Amino acid sequence: MKKRVFSGIQPTGDIHIGNYLGAIKYWVSMQENYDNVFCVVDLHAITVPQDPKVLHAKIREVAGLLMAAGIDPQRSILFVQSHVKAHSELAWLLNCFIPMGWMQRMTQFKEKSVKQKEQVSVGLFDYPALMAADILLYDTQVVPVGEDQKQHVELARDAAGRFNSIYGDTFVLPEPLIPNVGARIMGLDEPTKKMSKSEPGTNHAINLLDTPDTIRAKFARATTDSLREIRFDEKRPGIFNLLTIYQTFSGIGKQELEAKFEGKGYGDFKKALAEVVIEGLRPLQERYKELTADPTRIDSILAEGANRARPLAERTLARVQQKIGLG
Ligand code: TYM
Repeated sequence: MKKRVFSGIQPTGDIHIGNYLGAIKYWVSMQENYDNVFCVVDLHAITVPQDPKVLHAKIREVAGLLMAAGIDPQRSILFVQSHVKAHSELAWLLNCFIPMGWMQRMTQFKEKSVKQKEQVSVGLFDYPALMAADILLYDTQVVPVGEDQKQHVELARDAAGRFNSIYGDTFVLPEPLIPNVGARIMGLDEPTKKMSKSEPGTNHAINLLDTPDTIRAKFARATTDSLREIRFDEKRPGIFNLLTIYQTFSGIGKQELEAKFEGKGYGDFKKALAEVVIEGLRPLQERYKELTADPTRIDSILAEGANRARPLAERTLARVQQKIGLG
């Protein structure tokens, strides 16, 4: 029996190389050896305000990008969260078992709520409960995510453990799987901050659909430092981040990479990096163009994905309802 993998991505902003290197790339490579469920999490997206037309288009764009990156909807289940109602329902049930104190410890909420003050939605606070529902509905064992989602996956595991201790064995306990390299790609303009979809700066992230010229311009402007050596030195976050991007796109080892750029300047390095990333994204961009040529194709793949996900999710939900004594 293959282990079950579940992971999700929000259809907001532009999908960037942080999402790709920290998560999507691994999802693609895990398809052979795992039983996979991948989800476009639109219910998570609405925890902050969204324009309905943009959201609708982004759901399709993200699904298209996942397929263009190599997610094969024949082998993996690919679907949209709101198409399977069990996600909202299990989130409510879990709400009644997750202590407030656990949720109040979530660092992502603390960071985001500082910016939004009292306007912050209850949904944003409750975001990890919905994420726990996503994971637990599919009896997930492995959750491949970037570093920033580790705490949320651990909360899902804790929630499952707590429920099991009250009602007996009900949920499978999931584990996060974080890549060794690329789990935390930083912003190009501010390399001490995680590369993020919601960051406004035009020079912050390389997006998966950026043109070659945009990619060259963004790397040329990326923040580095006043030193010269091109080395993996964590105390120099700008150059460290750029080297990590080079390493993950090229597959070249750290030492070999440092040797390759020994004695070279930042300018030459950034130019070479831009070309590696442009070439790395080219096949994905070409496949994306082909996939989106027929606008109905993605919709029918997503409908089929939801049809495959629904019975799995409903079976778990029924098990939970029965344990609690509902209905
Ligand atoms: P989201 O949409 O913010 O990001 C999708 C994936 O990309 C990873 N990621 C990064 N990895 C490396 N460097 C970065 N700068 C970077 N930024 C993002 C994220 O860790 C994530 O793996 N809450 C989730 C979506 C979600 C989910 C789930 C994930 C909902 N339900 C259940 C796993 C299981 C999120 O907002 O990801």
